[in-house]
Amino acid sequence: MIKQASAIIEARRFNLDEIRNDFPILKRTVNGKQLVYLDNAATSQKPQCVIDSINKYYSFENANIHRGLYFLSEIATESYENARLKGKEFLNALSSSELIFVKGTTEAINLVAASLSRANYFREGDEVIISHMEHHANIVPWQFLVEHDKIKLKVIPITDDGELDMEAFKLMLNDRTKFISVVHISNALGTINPVKEIITLAHRRNIPVFIDGAQSAPHMKIDVQDLDCDFYALSGHKAFGPTGIGVLYGKTEMLEMLPPYQGGGDMIRTVTFEKTTYDDIPHKFEAGTPNIAGSIGFGTAIDYINQFDRDELTRYENELLEYATNSLNEIDGLKIIGNAKKKASVISFVIEGIHPYDIGTIIDTDGIAIRTGHHCTQPLMDRFKLPATARASFAFYNTKEEVDKLVQSLLKVKRMFV
Ligand SMILES: Cc1ncc(COP(=O)(O)O)c(C=O)c1O
Repeated sequence: MIKQASAIIEARRFNLDEIRNDFPILKRTVNGKQLVYLDNAATSQKPQCVIDSINKYYSFENANIHRGLYFLSEIATESYENARLKGKEFLNALSSSELIFVKGTTEAINLVAASLSRANYFREGDEVIISHMEHHANIVPWQFLVEHDKIKLKVIPITDDGELDMEAFKLMLNDRTKFISVVHISNALGTINPVKEIITLAHRRNIPVFIDGAQSAPHMKIDVQDLDCDFYALSGHKAFGPTGIGVLYGKTEMLEMLPPYQGGGDMIRTVTFEKTTYDDIPHKFEAGTPNIAGSIGFGTAIDYINQFDRDELTRYENELLEYATNSLNEIDGLKIIGNAKKKASVISFVIEGIHPYDIGTIIDTDGIAIRTGHHCTQPLMDRFKLPATARASFAFYNTKEEVDKLVQSLLKVKRMFV
């Protein structure tokens, strides 16, 4: 049984065939073979209900929000704000005004970094801590501040297994540490980081913490109040929703402290040529016409996930991870990069003597989609002295049979290179 709003409803039974049926793309063929989609860390597939909700909005409800007094504008506004409410429940935020709709995780991090800079939050020599396993989205926006605000970027080292070196992290904290921004689950290694411990340690020194939740929101229950993070970001398209929509969660006091990120319509209270006053949060951060259709699709994706017992989805993904790890480890010459004790369903690997690009291209002929490259984590690749890896990443609609197909296809690649 799960609790949703005030009503208690029965969780939908976990039935793989029924779930796969919800995702129309999984029925298609690629290169004459049944599609095997194992690139979920890059973007997830969308259930029919998400596609239908976007279609419905454009077919019957399309109007701009917040400024119309007519029927269509009112229902579009209601759907948009209702999606925010769903996001609030999804993250267990205290208030829906703590959720800002953005393009995705990248924009969320840029928003916070740029607004902190505009607030003159940093003094020259202040330190921001990130980790060695960050996505470029959580590196580059802070480098802007190295240039502009003369901050220092400190990097938490990682172990050979791909875990954060927490002892090194503790030693890095000092009076100059003004902000910490770390990834919850690494998109390249699958490591689940001890973010709660990081937040507790940081808060003892009053240091705010940003959690990059691009990979955690789709795979585990998130409770921002329990984590006590100051900011958390997710991308809708990785969580079974559409592209171009994401959420920045920020504690009320943090969002109120920050100046707006962009100026324009919908974020103001009054404008004269001399002075503009800003609207309250969250609208202060949502200048211009937002991605209305995207937010509605994202709200439907949340409804979709909420039908299930989330712990059951996570358990199944862990089972897939274990099965795939064991199966891939059977392949001679294959090495998994990232063997943290706590992992999500992401497996990066290399095969001796074969470039990851060759692996990706050849198994595509079997209809299998995996990602190859640096996964927007070049410093992490440098840490492991690798130019690239191949990466298979799983969602709850993937099957053990698909893992078997991946293994068979990789064995074929190996035979071609002997
Ligand atoms: C850990 C992590 N952070 C940030 C991002 C950036 O997300 P987006 O491109 O949706 O903004 C990604 C995308 O792969 C990611 O995996």
